[in-house]
Parts: sequence; structure tokens; C-alpha cells
Amino acid sequence: MEIVIRSTPDEVASTVADIVERSVRRGPTTLGLATGSSPLGSYRELIRRHHDDGLDFSSARVFLLDEYVGLPKSHEQSYFSVIRSEFVDRVNLDPGRVHGLDGQAPDLAAEAARYDAAIAAAGGIDVQLLGIGTDGHIGFNEPGSSLTSRTRIKTLTEQTRIDNARFFGSVDDVPLHVLTQGLGTIGEARHLVMVAVGAGKADAIAAAVEGPLTAICPASVLQLHRHATVVVDEAAAEWLA
Ligand code: F6R
Repeated sequence: MEIVIRSTPDEVASTVADIVERSVRRGPTTLGLATGSSPLGSYRELIRRHHDDGLDFSSARVFLLDEYVGLPKSHEQSYFSVIRSEFVDRVNLDPGRVHGLDGQAPDLAAEAARYDAAIAAAGGIDVQLLGIGTDGHIGFNEPGSSLTSRTRIKTLTEQTRIDNARFFGSVDDVPLHVLTQGLGTIGEARHLVMVAVGAGKADAIAAAVEGPLTAICPASVLQLHRHATVVVDEAAAEWLA
């Protein structure tokens, strides 16, 4: 595992954008994108590079990491809407090349299986961006998730619903269930890039990077990956040895 500690969140964003840019410039690439606050600076930097440096996303394809169950795609907090407004619609990426999970599918287990098959049929994910929850989750694989899990339905912990209440106005409005790529699914991406900024993520980063490999800290599964990069600012790196 490669750990990159940068001084500021802007430098973190720039490092993550460099990794994505290299992949995009190599040719048609498949990006796995996360939502939440952590990658927003990186998306802003990639949008800037698209406008200022002509970074061309036209041949890129995107798979989202997870989605809330019960929200229509058009809901402003669905991860499909969020990734469109924060990134896709601001670069030259055709929305038809953006794949997400359908949180309103009548058969959620079938939807999850369809998604894993779609990722495989696309040749897998080249670069997967990840945030990390304060409880060590990645995607919405909460503590206790099997390290080999596939895409499936999960119940959010109270802590994650509290953490995400800022996007919904109240914790009661945060959906209880999600569809998420599993830890095994995520681990099949060729390059995992986990990004964390701020002191609030310092405990989770220390557990993921230097703690034991355990389902209690799902992000620790990155320790098994052949090409995992953790990009953090100094605040998030505070408890690293
Ligand atoms: C989002 C996701 C989550 C977030 C995590 C951190 O697609 O999969 O795992 O990355 O909850 O969220 P932020 O970045 O908002 O602190």
C-alpha cells in the first residue's frame, strides 16, 4: 500500500486528479467514482483540467460505487444525480457512459448481480476512487462486511446516517438501506485510490492503514490489494506512526 501525505486538501485533490488524469490520457478508461465530500476537490480539479488543459473524458466510462435504496435517480441526493451535478455534467462525459445501481429496482438482489456482471463485461475498473467513513466503511460496506462480499443490499449504521444527515436536512430523511459494491467487487479494480481529509478521518485512516486486517474496519481490505494508494492531508494522517 502506498501512502501519500500532502499538506492541504487542495494538494490531496491535485494528487488524486494526477492519478485519474494519467489513466484518462492513456486511452479509454473505466473509472469507479465515489460520492460524498472526500473526492469533491478532486472532481473540481479534474473539471478545471478539462477546461484549462483540454483533459478529454469522451472515451471514459464510469461505474458508481453505491446508491441509496428507495430514491429515484432524479432525486437530488441520489448518487447518480450527485455525480452528474458534481462532475459528469461539467466535463465532456456522455451521461450514457455513466453506470449506477438502480435503488428502485423491484428485485434488488437481481440488480446487484446485474451490476457486478456489467462491471465484468466492461473489462473491470481501472481506477476506483474511495472515501472512507468515520467507522472505516468503504462504499457502504459497514463494519462486519465480508472481505470477499459482492454488490448487495446493506443497512446503514446509525453513525453513517448521522454523518450523511448533512446532505438530507435530518437524519430521519437518510435512507436506511443502500446498494453497494462489495469489498470483493471493489478489490477487483486495478488501482484503488482512497482519499481522506480532515482530523475527523484520522482514526479511521490509522485503523485502515496500520491496524489489523479485519472486517471490523472494512477499509483495511486495501492492505491486501496489489495497487492501493491512500492520499491524505496532514490532519487525516495525524495518527499514522
Ligand atoms: C460514497 C461512499 C462512502 C463515502 C464515505 C465518506 O459513495 O461510498 O463510502 O466515501 O461515507 O464520506 P465523506 O467523503 O462524505 O466523508
